[in-house]
Amino acid sequence: METVVAEVTSARPLGTLLLLRLWKEPLVSLVPDRWFCARVTVTGPLGDGDDEGGDDDGDGDDGDDGDTPRATFPCYRWLESGCLELREGTARTPRGAAWEPRLLQQRQEERREREEAFQWAPYSPGWPWRLRALSPALCPWPPPPPPPPPSSSSSSSPSPGGAPPPQLPPSLAFPLGHRASMAARAAAAQVRVRLRGLRCGGSWRSFEDIREALGGPGTPISEYVVQHWQDDAFFGEQYLNGVNPVLLRRCSRLPPNFPVTPPMVAPSLGPATCLQREMEGGRLFLADYALLEGLPTGRPGGDPQFLAAPLCLLWLSPRRQLLPIAIQLSQRPGPEAPIFLPGDGPWGWALAKLWVRGAHFTLHEVVTHLLQSHFLGETFATATHRLPACHPVHQLLLPHCRYTFHINILARETLLNPGGIIDQATAVGREGTLELVARGTAALTYTELCVPDDLEHRGVTDIPNYYYRDDALEIWGAIESLVEGIVALYYPEDSDVAEDHELQDWVGEIFTYAVLGNEKTGFPSKLCSRPELVKFVTMIIFCCSARHAAVNSGQYDYAAWMPNTPGTLRRPPPRRKEEATAELLLETLPSPDATGALLALLSVVSYEGGEPRPLGSRTQEPFSGAAPRRLLGAFRRRLAAISHRIQQRNEGLALPYPYLDPACVQESVSI
Ligand code: FE2
Repeated sequence: METVVAEVTSARPLGTLLLLRLWKEPLVSLVPDRWFCARVTVTGPLGDGDDEGGDDDGDGDDGDDGDTPRATFPCYRWLESGCLELREGTARTPRGAAWEPRLLQQRQEERREREEAFQWAPYSPGWPWRLRALSPALCPWPPPPPPPPPSSSSSSSPSPGGAPPPQLPPSLAFPLGHRASMAARAAAAQVRVRLRGLRCGGSWRSFEDIREALGGPGTPISEYVVQHWQDDAFFGEQYLNGVNPVLLRRCSRLPPNFPVTPPMVAPSLGPATCLQREMEGGRLFLADYALLEGLPTGRPGGDPQFLAAPLCLLWLSPRRQLLPIAIQLSQRPGPEAPIFLPGDGPWGWALAKLWVRGAHFTLHEVVTHLLQSHFLGETFATATHRLPACHPVHQLLLPHCRYTFHINILARETLLNPGGIIDQATAVGREGTLELVARGTAALTYTELCVPDDLEHRGVTDIPNYYYRDDALEIWGAIESLVEGIVALYYPEDSDVAEDHELQDWVGEIFTYAVLGNEKTGFPSKLCSRPELVKFVTMIIFCCSARHAAVNSGQYDYAAWMPNTPGTLRRPPPRRKEEATAELLLETLPSPDATGALLALLSVVSYEGGEPRPLGSRTQEPFSGAAPRRLLGAFRRRLAAISHRIQQRNEGLALPYPYLDPACVQESVSI
């Protein structure tokens, strides 16, 4: 397999270049003869000063830098034999292409091909839809697939929706070395924990046992977690700068199902204040896990697993620490749902926090991570691939779709399959995950995916030391500036947005297949103005890059020490405070087998393998023209400044927050 960059130079004027045809003769051989063509660049006098990149047609492209006219024809496809028709790479809206009927015809034909190649398919009731199939000819990454060998014992399970999983070309698979290192890392972690766990007879006898079993390769942050996991201040800080920093909300009124009374929290608040005063002062916050109420749970190895749906009240103390002050392990108050308090004794309070952390793991992994990053990302990628390649939105979003199909297919075939890691290592298992993703999809809001709106809505704009917020706002601003610039190039007026039928189809498909046409989500079903388009595209780029990094990259750091983030729990939540003992806490923790299975997963998914593509790198740059390049240059410089500030800040922190450093944020959901 070869990748070719072909450059054709013409000595005489070519006039206006509309389309370019590539013809490849088949090689008379049994050896596969496929070529990956990235692009064709035509350089020379193109005509009477003609430059396909010229801006005179209002397409936003003011030509290449330098004196030589140049036209670029992006291809990014595999050629085996026959003819391929390419159009010049300048981004154009349908209106921008209307001046030439031949181009319009090519655009319509390409769109039909893409809609055939990138089809929607359901996965499970209530879920965002997924990619059904992928035509190798239109695959933007090399190479096309050989026919799969017939197998009578396929390990992949049929999808709940009935459609077969898409056959991905090997090209969409991660590079072989990357896959090998993923497998080796996972196996090493699993074998290590399970072997050491065997000595415990399938259960933990002490925290020393756990420490010995989990004492593998740590990170500075995972070591910090081992030292501080029982500290209330660290418990609270994880809501701000841990792996799910988008859950906490200000509590201006206690929910009716969480009857905390002033005397309960008076010992935590001290004599100088009271519950009402702290609430009115905006210093009380709530973590509510209501979405988990009543979910089915799994039985790995035949043992029942348990999950709570807690409510946790936190207080921002005068020392600027966020401290838990009351925990109820059920959404239904009553004698069997006591409200645990810090003064309840070491084991009662520790058990209550353990149950909250278990719920936190489930809500984070299934809703914030899998649903809101991976599965939504797949809907964005599918809709975007169905746009013509010359559409400005297609060109802008293509780098943010890289490998998303592949990682999601892997997730469905190795995590979500019956008996897969979800079944082995989590309380909800596959059945509960199917239900929880459906609940999360129904509860999703456009507001929570748009950083400024989300922070305002949750009432956390002024909470101190909230590094996720600070970094996310800056990255959102940088992306928004880039998108504003690109949109201004191709959509001079609001009416240009409203009248772009391809764009309207694109956003309509996302509304239909991502949030299932649910108007309560606030997702737009059409875009009527430039600001609406800017916000929607900014949201997509942010979610596919920074938001995924924020909820993905710290998984090993915060969960490698299993008692801090248990994937499942093996005893029911305590119904009376007197039940809490050190023995119950150890018996409640996940088994060594479940711990090993989860650690194997975390060892893989917390690290970007292969070729890292930090936000802004856009190594397969589809845009042509100086104006988009200037915007991208400014974007990269702004990201570099953000990176510098974050690295300087982290140097002064005992617990750094590195996950939104743009140098570490990948462009797409690819792990
Ligand atoms: Fe991920």
